[in-house]
Amino acid sequence: MKLSKAARIILVGAPGVGKGTQAERLLQRFPQLAAISSGDLLRDNVKNQTPLGIKAEHTMKSGALVPDAMILRLILHELKTRGWIQPPAGASPMTLSATAQDQDFDVEDNFVNSPSLANMGAPPRTSEDPAASFILDGFPRTAGQASQLDKLIPINLVVSLHTPAEVILERIAGRWVHAPSGRVYNTTFNAPKVAGRDDVTGEILTKRADDDEATWMTRLQKFQETSEPLLDHYAKKGVLWEVSGNSSDEISPKLFSEFEKRFVDGVE
Ligand SMILES: *[C@@H]1O[C@H](CO)[C@@H](O)[C@H](O)[C@H]1NC(C)=O
Ligand SMILES: *[C@@H]1O[C@H](CO)[C@@H](O)[C@H](O)[C@H]1NC(C)=O
Repeated sequence: MKLSKAARIILVGAPGVGKGTQAERLLQRFPQLAAISSGDLLRDNVKNQTPLGIKAEHTMKSGALVPDAMILRLILHELKTRGWIQPPAGASPMTLSATAQDQDFDVEDNFVNSPSLANMGAPPRTSEDPAASFILDGFPRTAGQASQLDKLIPINLVVSLHTPAEVILERIAGRWVHAPSGRVYNTTFNAPKVAGRDDVTGEILTKRADDDEATWMTRLQKFQETSEPLLDHYAKKGVLWEVSGNSSDEISPKLFSEFEKRFVDGVE
């Protein structure tokens, strides 16, 4: 389906809520959407040994986290390369501040070394071409990161995905794997013929490491702590939309319908 406006979206959801599934389905239904993942950008830059990649690798090898500013640089660079953002309007090399902005925007070495985007002054101009549409994944995770991203590009839809904790827990509790083959069973939909045994080999089924209930509860709590201020931030901007469902198949049609209302002309 063709978009009539640029969509710049973020999906937020607890671990196990099916964020990846929804993203994949959106990308399939709306081919103009690109997937921009901060994790992939980081890996690609390290692999290709770009100036920023070298710097990030050095940081990670020292055991430190890659700073937000560096992730923002990666995103800025990607959007700039795609032609989706341009230097601020009226940036002219004749004035001192514009010179700083242009350098910040154009010169790769400076792009790597500049510690923050704060000195960029006016935000870049954002393309409203529907072809400049994307789902941003992996960033921002905190309200602070969201504020920084706002200075770079305005996100225009943040989807908060909800599935009741007990439903996710039930799914986790029911999921068993045959580790050697990767075959997955769940006691509700796809139970093994003999309880606790692989259908093919008869070997014992086990739990995946991340299917431990206590581990999931800890991850959920951590997610809630950081996502609450993040969602508040976007609610204040008027771009937050919440959807709930017990399964991905229940959520997808609601998400598609809302997405089309916002970004496809003629859909009400
Ligand atoms: C159960 O397993 C099937 C097949 O792997 C999968 O499609 C389904 O989503 C699973 N259901 C749950 C509740 O995990
Ligand atoms: C979702 O799951 C909850 C808790 O198990 C249940 O009460 C509710 O009826 C379910 N909703 C739908 C639409 O299946």
